Amino acid sequence: MRTAVLTGTFDPVTAAEITAARKLLQEHNLDGVWLCPIGEGILSLQERQRLLAMAVKPWRHLHTGRPDVVPVMEMDITDRADEERVRAGEFLRAAQGIRRELAVSGYYLEQVVDACCKPRRAAHSRSVAEVCRKLAHAHHLDEKLAWQAGMLHDVTKKWDDDTSRRVVECYYPEMLCYSPKVWHSYTAPVFLKQVLGIRDRKLLHAVECHTLGNGNADLDRILYIADKCEPLRGYDVSAQMNTSMVSLKEGAQMVYDESRRYILETEGFDVKSTGPDTENTVG
Ligand SMILES: [Fe+2]
Ligand SMILES: [Fe+2]
Repeated sequence: MRTAVLTGTFDPVTAAEITAARKLLQEHNLDGVWLCPIGEGILSLQERQRLLAMAVKPWRHLHTGRPDVVPVMEMDITDRADEERVRAGEFLRAAQGIRRELAVSGYYLEQVVDACCKPRRAAHSRSVAEVCRKLAHAHHLDEKLAWQAGMLHDVTKKWDDDTSRRVVECYYPEMLCYSPKVWHSYTAPVFLKQVLGIRDRKLLHAVECHTLGNGNADLDRILYIADKCEPLRGYDVSAQMNTSMVSLKEGAQMVYDESRRYILETEGFDVKSTGPDTENTVG
């Protein structure tokens, strides 16, 4: 039996690496190819092995781990640049069988945020994610989903106005009347769906509503509160947080009222009059 062992970091395994393995199988007339993760990675060896098993499932002659017989060849096929692009958010470059799992599991979200955001924004996102997790825990809600929403809510904040306008024009034309500062709430769900393959409606809706505070679901409120109350913002939000730990509805209302008052005082306009959907938005 002619076998080969192909090692790599597989952090995660990419479509190109699977193609390389299949090509070797054919070119060397092998009976089977075993893919084996090695070295340090963002994910543990076990997690990478699990993803590899999902990636090779459609291919009868591809396996994970090591064969029982001595292989006729062993080589490293790591495509570092390609793996890095996946970790930066190009999930479509990952092996087909794991794309969905990457989106659902929340793997590499910190790397995606680091790649898409400036350092200060990335730090804010991590901080929001932790507050989201804390609030979800207090209310017996999905902590992982809340953390993911916090991590990703500002992922398109760096986009320039022209790019954002084109996306908003296409997917949310009714939001063009709002300030460009609001648009990232609407470009982010498009990016999350189309680039990362995220389909969770609760998460996408919470991201959509995080600037205007116009969502009434638990996760909408958690993200809205966490975005305004994360500790790096540097102001005293203990009253809002204490209330939010007991009631998300009352907490979100408090944050909304405070934010409205602040914008009126500092920027001279009432957020209730900035768009058609802001009336009675929270509560
Ligand atoms: Fe934001
Ligand atoms: Fe934010």
